[in-house]
Amino acid sequence: METHTDINQFPREVREIMADDYTIPQGWEGYSDEEHQTWDTLYERQVKLLPGKAEQSFLDGLKALDLGRGGIPNFETMSDELESLTGWRVVAVPGLVPDEVFFDHLANRRFPAGNFIRRADQLDYLQEPDVFHDVFGHVPMLTNPVFADYMQAYGKGGLRSLDSGCLKNLAALYWYTVEFGLVQTDDGLRIYGAGIVSSASESVFSLKDPSPHRLKFDLERVMRTDYRIDDFQQTYFVIDSYEDLFHATVDTDFGPIYDRLQGVDDKYPVDTILAEAEVVHRGSQDYARK
Ligand code: PHE
Ligand code: FE
Repeated sequence: METHTDINQFPREVREIMADDYTIPQGWEGYSDEEHQTWDTLYERQVKLLPGKAEQSFLDGLKALDLGRGGIPNFETMSDELESLTGWRVVAVPGLVPDEVFFDHLANRRFPAGNFIRRADQLDYLQEPDVFHDVFGHVPMLTNPVFADYMQAYGKGGLRSLDSGCLKNLAALYWYTVEFGLVQTDDGLRIYGAGIVSSASESVFSLKDPSPHRLKFDLERVMRTDYRIDDFQQTYFVIDSYEDLFHATVDTDFGPIYDRLQGVDDKYPVDTILAEAEVVHRGSQDYARK
């Protein structure tokens, strides 16, 4: 959610078809065979890796939406299915959109997804979230009713954070939950973050590598933490359940937290472990020091 954008970043042809809320037609008929193939390649790779790593509601969501039927999903068909489950729809956008536009979509149970797909020679690296990250990574979790409500509340909370000047803190919350979150289950630690489940290398690294710290989720601490957008995370935060996350965020008034945060400019560096932290795994940080 690094959404500092300006309308002029999009080419004129895109601006001409873009609505006021930055949505565009997906243009599903326009994908080439090679682009559908890229989806299939990425899909098959992740689906092999994720059993025993991704949390069950992610895996169930993939099945319920039948995202592996072949090729890039058609947003209309997929949204009809998703809407019947939790009331969410997926809308196409040409790339990152301004924060208030992004929040407004979430607040109305619309998930904005990039309609383009990475090039076949960029399977492991991309700068901007594409349709594989946005759809494979984010949409399955929107079939989980608690998580679906969390995402909507996050959109409303985002709009509120803009008034309090606390956007950065709210963005850190998104980063360490929606994008890079881990959850403790009876069967062990599992992934639910979209940035992890959509990445072949990080879905292994985040769970198994001795390098990163894995700390119990602590709302205010997370909201004061820096994050890396250029490499694997140095710290992952672990929730006990989606209900717990919901309670700590949706059921909590951020007003007093924003008041406390006004005074503090400095963020905790990405490898900090505070004295009061509940440590699941103390990382060696060897990877980050490499
Ligand atoms: N409860 C938060 C507030 O008072 C809103 C929020 C909900 C923020 C869920 C993030 C996630 O602003
Ligand atoms: Fe994302």
